[in-house]
Amino acid sequence: MTTITDLRAELRPDALGIGTATPRLSWKLAEAAPGDAQIAYEFELEGRPLGRVDSTDQVFVAWPASPLRSRERRTMRVRAWTGSGATDWSEPLAVEAGLLDAADWVTDYVSPSTAADRTGPRPAYLLRAGFRLDGRIERARIYASAHGIYELQLNGRPVSDELLAPGWTSYRSRQRYQTYDVTELLKDGDNALGAHLSDGWYRGRIGFHGGVWDNYGTDVALLAQLELTRADGSTEVVPLTEAWRWAEGPVVAASLYDGETYDARAEVPGWSTAGFDDSGWRRPTMIARGSVSLEAPTGVPVRVTEVLRPVSVERRPNGRIRFDFGQNIAGKLAIRVAGERGSVVRLHHAEVLEDDELAIRPLRSAPSIDIYTLRGDGLEEWTPTFTVHGFRYAEAEGWPGEPADDAVVALVMHSDMVRTGWFRSSDPMLDRFHENVVWSMRDNFVDLPTDCPQRDERLGWTGDIQVFAPAASFLYSSIGTLAGWLRDVVAEQGSDGAVPNFVPWVECGFPEPSSAAWGDAAAVVPWVLHERFGDEKILRDQYDSMAAWVDHLESQSDGQGLIREGFQLGDWLDPTAPPEDPGDARTDRYLVATAYLVKSARIVADTAALLGRTAEADHYSSVAATALTAFRREYVSPSGRLVSDTPTALSLALVFDLLETDAQRAVAGRRLRDLVEQGGYVIQTGFVGTPIICDALALVGHVDAAYRLLFQTACPSWLYAVTMGATTVWERWDSMLPDGTVNPGEMTSFNHYALGAVVDFLHRVVAGLAPAAPGYRRMLIAPRPALDLGSAEARLDTPYGLAVSSWRKVAGVFTLDVVVPPGATAEVRLPYGAAAPVVVGSGEHRFEVPVDASAEEDRVA
Ligand code: BGC
Repeated sequence: MTTITDLRAELRPDALGIGTATPRLSWKLAEAAPGDAQIAYEFELEGRPLGRVDSTDQVFVAWPASPLRSRERRTMRVRAWTGSGATDWSEPLAVEAGLLDAADWVTDYVSPSTAADRTGPRPAYLLRAGFRLDGRIERARIYASAHGIYELQLNGRPVSDELLAPGWTSYRSRQRYQTYDVTELLKDGDNALGAHLSDGWYRGRIGFHGGVWDNYGTDVALLAQLELTRADGSTEVVPLTEAWRWAEGPVVAASLYDGETYDARAEVPGWSTAGFDDSGWRRPTMIARGSVSLEAPTGVPVRVTEVLRPVSVERRPNGRIRFDFGQNIAGKLAIRVAGERGSVVRLHHAEVLEDDELAIRPLRSAPSIDIYTLRGDGLEEWTPTFTVHGFRYAEAEGWPGEPADDAVVALVMHSDMVRTGWFRSSDPMLDRFHENVVWSMRDNFVDLPTDCPQRDERLGWTGDIQVFAPAASFLYSSIGTLAGWLRDVVAEQGSDGAVPNFVPWVECGFPEPSSAAWGDAAAVVPWVLHERFGDEKILRDQYDSMAAWVDHLESQSDGQGLIREGFQLGDWLDPTAPPEDPGDARTDRYLVATAYLVKSARIVADTAALLGRTAEADHYSSVAATALTAFRREYVSPSGRLVSDTPTALSLALVFDLLETDAQRAVAGRRLRDLVEQGGYVIQTGFVGTPIICDALALVGHVDAAYRLLFQTACPSWLYAVTMGATTVWERWDSMLPDGTVNPGEMTSFNHYALGAVVDFLHRVVAGLAPAAPGYRRMLIAPRPALDLGSAEARLDTPYGLAVSSWRKVAGVFTLDVVVPPGATAEVRLPYGAAAPVVVGSGEHRFEVPVDASAEEDRVA
């Protein structure tokens, strides 16, 4: 019988402290009979049915009741009707609003340190406030944020398992707050709230070229508002202002890049419990909240999502103990150690080894060393609180005795998004590559989408997520994280529409002007999220930013649609670019810029049309048309050759649909294939060309060439890193050279997702599962088998439920198994031109056709 699952509000799996008064609701249907789909639904609010609505909508359905007030909690259920009758009610979902109005905040920041007196990692602070509670409490919430990173304890117990809260946003404009349910942690009588507070992104060093200190302010400060709801519904804010006291604690120094220094001898037992004597502690300074907007998270928090035990432990000649965790991660170590009071263990981290030593040069000025000084009273357990590292290897220096089996584990940390997409094939190397991309995504979604998790950078580079957004939308439910980050794009966008090359922006000496393919994230990412998650609101929210970006590009053009000057990163990291000049690509950087102007202008035109902004749709269509004409005039020969005769330029022309005629497309396609073949099927593209070259080849009937590129193992190629034992995607094709040495460039990471963006091609084209309408409400199942790949499968938990495209070639028969979730349809196109496309509804479907090997090569579209 059909049931309803996954009833949820907005973009997060939970709905505590939601930031909108009218959260949209989504649900899925499960166990439906084949072809069965919703024809109507009904909500129930606090036990009151709201009436049947005839509608097939089940994703982002408008809030059906009066808007929520701040703090208001309402319990919803939903049921649906399908052709075979009504479902049962879903599990209830409690939707609770956060503080929706600035006026709801009656608390100010409390600060233990308003001016840091030294440039170097600074201590973390303990803050505590004792208070009394009388009478029964129905509900208790803490709304909290910080200048810095904070963790809360109530009566000696952690308030949550979130890490690195409040996360990093454009703090000058917007600051996230968290909502915690602390009802169970309170007790009648005396209570105490404790906070541990460190510099984090707010005041700690961030950025490269030496970085910037005190970027957002010279203080660290906590904002915490404890609110109680009594049985009669009355609410009160517990007055803590006068109660706060602070002291320094065991964290002697903490920094995201440097690591954490912890002296267990300086621990303060019981500091966050009632009855603790804080008479020696100091009073904090109050800091007004100011005008920065306090916003509820749209995404999920950072948590420990996995624990890895070492795959090998080795005593080094220098006395250090080396741990290999077998996987490059973002995270930290957790140790269990016993030894003499005052002995010091230093924990070093690195992604790879070079000459059998930790390769720490790629970390640049992020030492990533945690230091623990023992109390000496038995077994001590510790993990740092205020830092995160990118590493596969760690070495412990000064470890007393021999470590026990479980003495050191690695805690994987990232935004705790729900996994939604999987791929597997008959090729173990391809599967490992895909797995590496998944890891690089995990490791680089540490609160925001970053370039890398290890060196003195970890910044929200716009170009990286611009190319990776489709893959990110398949692998994980990343929309909440990305929607939040897009608000920062808005916050950081110049009044002239310019988008910084990374967001949040840090003034650390990088050229300020926007670059094509980077700033285009402002238009591309919202569009991708709409396409993959079916969220039209994100387009409405981002529209002004999207349009301003295109206005900006237009203002940079020569007035006739051509961008011919100014700063451009271009086809960054083209393999022929020398290590010290990654932007020195073979493709004309202004060709890239004008191609992106066409793409972004079309996206904005389509968005305007979708939102009913007809005049603007016309305007941006004409901006796109002008740029397209200029592109053709400047870069395309009448026959279809490109002035910049490179795989990246040809791929842009094909995938961005920049050519005029089929004849030109055929010429460009052949030329692309020839260049790829003449190049020996190794990579000749950088950040711009790499994500699209396989699509370009497949579009013009050379899917076999795309497969040859995918299966290449010589350097540079996607699988080269896999042959070198990589467990994540590298920044450079040759981050590690074939002789095992680390690339001499000063910019070499072993954990960048950008060049892994091609997995979207594995999902959409190799396995053949692509969106054909927003949110996969309609999908295109059109696998393109080639060469000797025996099977491939993509599984995606779409907004409507699980969709699968799974094929295999056995004994000359190509079998395709398809699963379509209720509420969605799929157009199925079988390979080899064997059958006409069919449209199928929900359920499981099998198709079989004879394999036609000759058709797998050189098919011209
Ligand atoms: C980052 C990249 C980024 C690039 C652009 C690098 O340092 O790690 O991924 O997009 O700079 O300049």
